[in-house]
Amino acid sequence: MEVIALKRSSKKDRPNEGEGFEPLMIQTKYDSVAKEYDRAYKGVRWDIYDMITWSCIEPYLPKASPKENALILDAGGGTGKWTARIASLGYKVVLFDISEEMLNIAREKLSKLNLLGQVELKKGDITEMPFPDECFDFILCEGDPLSYSVEKHELAISNLARVAKKGAVIEIGVDNFFRVLFSSYRRTKDIGLVLGKIREMLKNRIMFRDPYNLPVYPFTIHELMKKLAKAGLEVLHVLGKPVTFCLIPREDWGKYDEDPKLREELLALEKELMAFEELACLGEHIHVVAMKPHSQKK
Ligand SMILES: C[S@@+](CC[C@H](N)C(=O)[O-])C[C@H]1O[C@@H](n2cnc3c(N)ncnc32)[C@H](O)[C@@H]1O
Repeated sequence: MEVIALKRSSKKDRPNEGEGFEPLMIQTKYDSVAKEYDRAYKGVRWDIYDMITWSCIEPYLPKASPKENALILDAGGGTGKWTARIASLGYKVVLFDISEEMLNIAREKLSKLNLLGQVELKKGDITEMPFPDECFDFILCEGDPLSYSVEKHELAISNLARVAKKGAVIEIGVDNFFRVLFSSYRRTKDIGLVLGKIREMLKNRIMFRDPYNLPVYPFTIHELMKKLAKAGLEVLHVLGKPVTFCLIPREDWGKYDEDPKLREELLALEKELMAFEELACLGEHIHVVAMKPHSQKK
């Protein structure tokens, strides 16, 4: 299997850019990687990630009959990986993303799958969603769009909550603060440097961990849950994605792609560990399943 690495940009490439939410910067970066994006997210680590994500999505999809009566929002849906999967079950989907080029790749993909009739592709920013209140039956905001919203993430959360119908499930995938914090140990044996980096992370909270060196806001589980509650959402379930890889040195990650037996063992182990919600803090990413309640708590 061919796995390509996206070119990592360094902070030096963007000396004049700020450390907060800059929609144009996100759009330009994703426009530039759109063509190679799908090929970059291959290998057992991403297979596990996708297995966990789908296992959270599938059971919570609306029970509408026919399915086309339910409208799904894929917010920050990129090249449409999840849109395609959800639309292929018969749902209507709005694929919303800030990057025109990511949407163009999605359009090609959906056209080949004969799914374009069920999907509306719309360019825009999740912090300013152009949809009426309470119009979606299920919302996915997966692959860190909330983390990319940096200091505007609460605005994005309130937009997601606003456009969800009462009773709709909202699923969110974000960067995990603790994994970002601890991964700094992997990169250097110099304890002084490690402690300095951790102190800096605790102070700034905004990081450039992403392969594209865009600023991201990684969440702790507790703070994400608190912010979802503030927006009136109830958290149903939390998972780490994936947790097994925290035990494996980065330089060994590729080994599992080459050895089918090891690959199956790792997938099976991850499935078992998914039963332990408390391990979510070990995940590279956090996945939260939340719901907009039928009636607001007083
Ligand atoms: C890592 S990709 C994930 C794509 C897709 N959700 C998936 O799981 O394959 C992140 C996506 O979020 C989009 N994005 C980031 N910030 C956004 C924002 N403020 N509004 C809309 N889309 C955004 C990017 O353009 C990109 O397509």
